[in-house]
Amino acid sequence: MSEIALTQTPIHIRHGSNIGQPLTRRDGVLKVTGAAKYAADQHPPGMLYAVLATSSIARGRVAHLDVAAAKAHPGVVDVITPANRPALALDPDEKSNPFMFRLDLLQTDRVRYAGQPIAIVIAQTLEAATEGASLLAPRYETEPARVGLDDGESTALQVVGPGFPAQAQRGDVETELAAAKKSITQTYETPAQYHNPMEPHAIVAAWEGDTLSIDTPSQGMAMAQGRLAGLFGIAPEKIHIRSPFLGGGFGGKGMISGPQVLGAIAARAVGRPVKLVLRRDQMYGPVGHRAPTRQTLRLGTDGDGALVGLDHHTKTMSSTFDDFFEPASTPSHTLYASTAIATSHAGVRADIGTPIFMRAPGEAPGSIALESAIDEMAQACGMDPLAFRLKNYAEVEPISGKPFSSKALRECYRQGAERFGWERRPLAPRQMRDRDGLLVGWGVGTATFPAVMFAAQAKAVLRRDGSGVMEIGAHDMGQGAWTALAQIAADGLGLDLDRLEFRSGTSDLPDAGIAGGSGHTATAGMAIYNAGADVIAKLADLATNDDHSPLFGAGNAGVVARGGRLFRRDDESRSESFSDILARAGLAQIEGRGAGGRPNPMEAHGQSDYAMHAHGAVFAEVKVDPELGQIRATRLVGAFAAGRIINPRMVRSQYYGGMIWGVSFALHEQAIVDRHSGRPMNANFAEYHIPVNADVPSLEAILVEEDDPHVNALGIKGVGEIGITGSAGAVANAVWHATGIRVRKFPITLDRLLEPQ
Ligand code: MOS
Repeated sequence: MSEIALTQTPIHIRHGSNIGQPLTRRDGVLKVTGAAKYAADQHPPGMLYAVLATSSIARGRVAHLDVAAAKAHPGVVDVITPANRPALALDPDEKSNPFMFRLDLLQTDRVRYAGQPIAIVIAQTLEAATEGASLLAPRYETEPARVGLDDGESTALQVVGPGFPAQAQRGDVETELAAAKKSITQTYETPAQYHNPMEPHAIVAAWEGDTLSIDTPSQGMAMAQGRLAGLFGIAPEKIHIRSPFLGGGFGGKGMISGPQVLGAIAARAVGRPVKLVLRRDQMYGPVGHRAPTRQTLRLGTDGDGALVGLDHHTKTMSSTFDDFFEPASTPSHTLYASTAIATSHAGVRADIGTPIFMRAPGEAPGSIALESAIDEMAQACGMDPLAFRLKNYAEVEPISGKPFSSKALRECYRQGAERFGWERRPLAPRQMRDRDGLLVGWGVGTATFPAVMFAAQAKAVLRRDGSGVMEIGAHDMGQGAWTALAQIAADGLGLDLDRLEFRSGTSDLPDAGIAGGSGHTATAGMAIYNAGADVIAKLADLATNDDHSPLFGAGNAGVVARGGRLFRRDDESRSESFSDILARAGLAQIEGRGAGGRPNPMEAHGQSDYAMHAHGAVFAEVKVDPELGQIRATRLVGAFAAGRIINPRMVRSQYYGGMIWGVSFALHEQAIVDRHSGRPMNANFAEYHIPVNADVPSLEAILVEEDDPHVNALGIKGVGEIGITGSAGAVANAVWHATGIRVRKFPITLDRLLEPQ
């Protein structure tokens, strides 16, 4: 049962609505039975296979490709290189907003990073295309690769991330740090990481005249449509993207990548449908990654352990030709009160593929450094790390002085600590052992992520038979968006869920905005809710103006919708079904539209009266072998407050996923780049370590209640990324507590624990 009040704001949803129910995934059965067709499962008639040849050098030019040998291979249909690549309407290096990649689309023979596409081979079979690509046997003119944070060209930064200021300050941090009673200065390093969704980037592209149909996983279909339209010089409506299922995205499918566009170029060139699927190793270059960072934190306190100065400086890296710089210092804007705060970023350009958003961009690497430094400062003050965090609790957003739209972090600390048993923690490190003699350590980390909204539209229909339709081109990359959004749709239309048809996952539907920044449920959800409210308002007009209706004269604000009926607010015994209202009016259906979002998606970052963030507290236990240095995370308890929870089952799953990534960040994950060739050396699942089942600790996620009257009318923040942010630091701090050794270079591997750098 669902119910809405027909007022603009705020919207009150009563218990017993679809929103808040722990429903299982709508697409779950399709996925576990293999019935869900992913992009690479498509086989249109006449389809050919494309395989990319990619550069094995990081810098230089391709001097020769043996195109004749590739073409002579049986089954090879065509080879596309910069010499014969069909013209495009736009220079792929043009960039008109921060939410697009500059692309490598075979525009020249220059090589700008290892793994850059240098040719496409198209063949009757995957095997022939693969063999053809290997026959190209490229020869290069190689220039020395600039690889690490110390090798590249320095660049002054004005903005980081998608447009945050690279520098920010409040108060005079130098004066405060100079006068501090206690202070620390430490430097932390985080490695390059790659998104590694189970499903690699893939495209099946088919042209009919100047109409392009594609199957490809996308976290932002409307943006992809616009980008492709620009490149091919056709209207966006000529491009039909289907993206019903994604095998993970994590930000790497937010913006269309070069290889996806190359698939469409190949299909156009040969005049047949073409499938192009990246191999795992080809995911390490042209489709984005998380850049490495080196972060220096300077903290100072007064005699009571209150922070007086916090300076967070990040050095990070982008490609030589594009502009995404990891905004790792930004969590210091939000988390802890300090008399003075300064954040800054410095950039380096190196011969790598362009980095991009990766789950909790900024906050993930930034918070593991900040949370480590906060622990080190607590230790310097002789204080319990949780007590130190509570001592420096930010009642308003520290950098801006603005009130938080809501902040139940204190409650997160309380519930998490109680559940974990934090009060039994000895202050000094290396005090606890388990029965097997392993060192046991406990750590805490604070989680934070901004409550971002983009812009979305939705269309709703109520039919005379009492059923409804909600249309929105939303993206379910595995997080459960279709399930949660359908719950909002049912409540928005005042229908039981089984009377609702939820249409999603194609670009022909209204633009749902990007599924990123943890903002999809809030953004698409508000569009959906408003589209439903638009329909219900029209329906209420029909009923309340009709003297044959039991609702006659009730007035627009006098009715509520639930279970397919409108009820008088003041007398719920008087009601009428949607079907009866439509039948009497002689209408087959009513349509409505809604929009959601904020005028500026950066609002959560300070362009509003309120600071809007989700928060959490994560408590971690690790066990360390005292001789071997082997580390295992054994237990994680996270307590998170993120506004209204649409579906607690999906949300818990998001928190678990984030927490596991936190373990991965702290202990496992890193891309190792060869300093001579500039090539990632572990571009495979055997050597790029992510947690497998045996690495995942006992997990518990507590959903702390939080009512946010400002963030949007439904009170939704976002849950997709915050789980990483507290967890990574909590695990790192637990390792210190177990061993007394502080490793400042992540991940904390056993060699670094035995010989800290
Ligand atoms: Mo997220 S990194 O915005 O998909």
